[in-house]
Amino acid sequence: MLKRIFFAMILVLGISTFISAKPKTGKKTSAFTMWQLPMQVGNIGNSYVFRTAGGKVIVFDGGWPAEQLYLRGFIAALGNEVEAWFISHPHDDHMGVLWQILKDRQGMKINHIYHSRFSPELIELEKPYNEYAKDFYSVLDTVSIPVTDFREAGYVGEIDGFNFKILGVVNEEFHTNPFNNSSMVIKVWDDRKSILFLADTGAESGEKLFNGPYRNDLACDYLQMAHHGQHGCSEDFYKSIDFRACLWPTAYWIWTNDQGGGYNTGNLETMQTRQWMDEIGIKEHHVSCLEGLFKLE
Ligand SMILES: [Fe+2]
Repeated sequence: MLKRIFFAMILVLGISTFISAKPKTGKKTSAFTMWQLPMQVGNIGNSYVFRTAGGKVIVFDGGWPAEQLYLRGFIAALGNEVEAWFISHPHDDHMGVLWQILKDRQGMKINHIYHSRFSPELIELEKPYNEYAKDFYSVLDTVSIPVTDFREAGYVGEIDGFNFKILGVVNEEFHTNPFNNSSMVIKVWDDRKSILFLADTGAESGEKLFNGPYRNDLACDYLQMAHHGQHGCSEDFYKSIDFRACLWPTAYWIWTNDQGGGYNTGNLETMQTRQWMDEIGIKEHHVSCLEGLFKLE
């Protein structure tokens, strides 16, 4: 037990030196900082943290339940209060940490949760994730934190200079790849940069997004690659929107398409996505398994 506490303290102290708890003073800026968090277990996970100019903390997804110690430490180093927590969809590599934190907050303050809730029918389309999703929603229903459930896209909000627009919400009509195709899609921006978070958007919901009323909002500086960089949005989608850099929330075995048999021997589609990016001419890539913690200001 003492050993665990010691390692948790080392973790928080280590994170603190990298992120510094307070924003820099003496210079007025409306820009927010974003971190792409590296995965803490050898699997996929989607986790982004923001700090506004005024010090407010915002989280997008957060990763697997097994990554909760890391994210708890990261948030503690920023003051242990989350102003807004966005969950893209109830797969456990996205909502898992929040799911666990809501069961035992250990002093963390969370002021608002934003998501787009799945219907009971949609949840049952994927097993065993239906059980995780149901438990997540039942926990969510018992907490006293305000929860916003976006039923349609188009909402524009602002939190201390952190601007966001909901471009995609739950899509009950897609019974293929149903959870991923119901990823909430968010664009965030300040006066320096814009980032589009596709979460695990699939080909079908990507097409709907592209042909929908918010098509012009898809252009961005930084694009989070859909579904961890493979088997997400289509070639047409990527080649039809403007962006200049990629955020890859991607484990090494996915990046290298190595499911145990060696480099590029698996059945993943990562190499194809990487090739599309080369064909588009994207030169700036932030790959979580290669770069570790990536900080964007
Ligand atoms: Fe995922």
